[in-house]
Amino acid sequence: MNLTRRSLLAGASALTVLPKFGFASENIDILEARTGAVSLVSDQYPDTQIWGYDGTVPGPEIRVAQGARIQRKLLNSLDEPTTIHWHGIRIDNAMDGVPGVTQDAVQPGDEFDYDFTVPDAGTYWYHSHYNTTEQISRGLYGALIVEEPNAPEVDHDITVLVDDWRLNQDAQIDPDFDRSHDWSHGGRLGNFLKATLIPETSEMQQNQRVRLRFICVATDRIMSLAMVGMQGVVVARDGMPLDAPIRLEQLRLGPAQRADVIVDITAAPGEKAMIGFVGPDQNIVLAGFDITGQASLAARGTVAALPANPVQRLQNVEGVKTVPLVFEGGAMGGLRQGTYQGKLMMAAELIENGQIWTLNGTAGLPIDPLADLSSGETVRIPITNNTVFAHAMHLHGTHFQEIMPDGSFGPLLDTILIEPRETREIAFVADNPGDWVFHCHMVSHVSAGMITWIKVRA
Ligand code: C2O
Ligand code: CU
Repeated sequence: MNLTRRSLLAGASALTVLPKFGFASENIDILEARTGAVSLVSDQYPDTQIWGYDGTVPGPEIRVAQGARIQRKLLNSLDEPTTIHWHGIRIDNAMDGVPGVTQDAVQPGDEFDYDFTVPDAGTYWYHSHYNTTEQISRGLYGALIVEEPNAPEVDHDITVLVDDWRLNQDAQIDPDFDRSHDWSHGGRLGNFLKATLIPETSEMQQNQRVRLRFICVATDRIMSLAMVGMQGVVVARDGMPLDAPIRLEQLRLGPAQRADVIVDITAAPGEKAMIGFVGPDQNIVLAGFDITGQASLAARGTVAALPANPVQRLQNVEGVKTVPLVFEGGAMGGLRQGTYQGKLMMAAELIENGQIWTLNGTAGLPIDPLADLSSGETVRIPITNNTVFAHAMHLHGTHFQEIMPDGSFGPLLDTILIEPRETREIAFVADNPGDWVFHCHMVSHVSAGMITWIKVRA
């Protein structure tokens, strides 16, 4: 065995585990947040200096069975604090990874043991929750896949992480993370889109069935994705199975949103199947597959719904607690004043403090929660976007459902994309106790004020 720093630490952690959990066979895997260098663009460019888990980007894919226990020791080898948030998991509050809310930030050289179980199958991800715009932009994220006990039979099961990098001419990450123009507009948008496929795949066959697990890991960009040479259905959003699969058209994924699709390859041998980004002025091929043959003579027919997860759904929303949420601010948002750190400020003073957006008139994490809920209580949150930008609101700890205009309930989501000037309403059953942040996942907007929290009492 090589005496590397990593193996020494792994050895040490195995020893400390013994008294704590009482079984010797378990070894805590380490996730080390550190710098690294990766070939991001192409061989013609120098390697890109990144920050990543285990020095790679994306970080290692974590793939476990539904109900499994996940233990990871975060080792912080960066020069600044960090934490890990396990996005979309119905997790114990203490493991949620929000510095200042559920744990202290992990200081350089320090470590933190994450230890939790994953009750729901699906496509999730993990990412830094400290200095988030910069740390996610530099690469601190990875996929977290929870497998169904009876997964649908497919020929390829591929995780597709789609990112939006802002690079300079030498393929290095632009260190401009706090440009107020970005903060007050659509966030820090990049100039280089890249999809990472796990496992890396470049060949397929006609009539093969493929599951694609899309994760939008971009800090701020909304991804419109189209598939060519394949046809199928969307089977899950934000990890949670749809009751009935929906025909796959274009996918529109806001930051942090996921979609699982199951497609059959329709492209013929010699052709190419593709995943593309559909832009306002140009389309970009993110992944191409050479079709090398024909797997069978005919396509495989209907795709069944995935088995449901054991999640509390909405039952009755009549007469339950209703907590409105209003977004204001941003460029052209007409923000006049707001409370920041308990102090009422005029727009100019807020902006001086980097606070450009407000939720219910408050910029930054408020002292009081947006909602204080008892266990099992149902809450409705009508959301009004009084700004001219889209926002992807993410609730930690629990999935919610949209109350549709006709009164029906939408699919379970953990992140909802709310278009400019739009009003939508969500609701959920508060069955996971703790303090849960609720924020825009255009993470530049979080730095600029768009975060609140919800208390669920035990
Ligand atoms: Cu994916 Cu609070 O984050
Ligand atoms: Cu936003």
